[in-house]
Amino acid sequence: MKVIIRNDEKKASIWAAHYIADAINAKAKTSKKPFVLGLATGSTPIETYAELARLVKAGKLSFKNVVTFNMDEYVALPVEHPESYHSFMDKYLFNHIDIDRKNVHLLDGNAKDLKKECDDYEKKIVAAGGIDLFLGGIGEDGHIAFNEPFSSLNSRTRVVTLTEDTRKVNSRFFDNDINKVPAQAMSVGVATVTDAKEVLILAFGSKKARALRDAIEGPCSHACTVSALQLHPAGIIVCDEAAIGECKYNSYKYFKAVEEAESK
Ligand code: F6R
Repeated sequence: MKVIIRNDEKKASIWAAHYIADAINAKAKTSKKPFVLGLATGSTPIETYAELARLVKAGKLSFKNVVTFNMDEYVALPVEHPESYHSFMDKYLFNHIDIDRKNVHLLDGNAKDLKKECDDYEKKIVAAGGIDLFLGGIGEDGHIAFNEPFSSLNSRTRVVTLTEDTRKVNSRFFDNDINKVPAQAMSVGVATVTDAKEVLILAFGSKKARALRDAIEGPCSHACTVSALQLHPAGIIVCDEAAIGECKYNSYKYFKAVEEAESK
């Protein structure tokens, strides 16, 4: 696991966006196959999406040959609801880049048969050639996608029940009313994420510090599902100083030293 630490969220987000852009551009040079990108919603990736859009406008990046798969969607929330993840992605990314809409995949939380929708999603990922890079955030309880604590580290796309804590945290998007936050979601599994060739996790602010400490220094455990990244051969956490704040000073120094050595 690599941990890239920047002073603040903005600098970390710009680093992440350029890393993703470089990966897309690198594949385009050597292959005609699309780049398959896993995406997340939430407050965390907003600056990264803004920088990706800026790179597209500047002519330094194109999404024409990029296929995307989002991590999750609420169950039974209308697609046109401003807080649906469909709406979120349009607002913060898809409306600002040159992606072909037929290459965009999000789970349908209003599908008649939710289980089939989840199973088909896994098949679509395989048919696309697997995910090249999965971008994610983490919850305050260490969840990755909507894999709440004690989700199997081998889990796949399925319907999940959100914890009260997650609903409370997300109620900030629903007039601060927890009752308006859907109780269920559909989410890719931990194994769906870790199957990706690369996984890039963003974590910003002191609210994420405990989860990040558990993910980096704790055991690989279903109690903190993002800790599954410890077993991934190409896992990167990109964070700010506040989010790394609960880790030991020696861990901090180690990750800084690795980055410095590799940038020489
Ligand atoms: C979003 C997702 C979640 C969020 C996490 C952090 O698609 O799957 O795991 O990444 O809840 O949310 P924010 O970024 O709002 O702190």
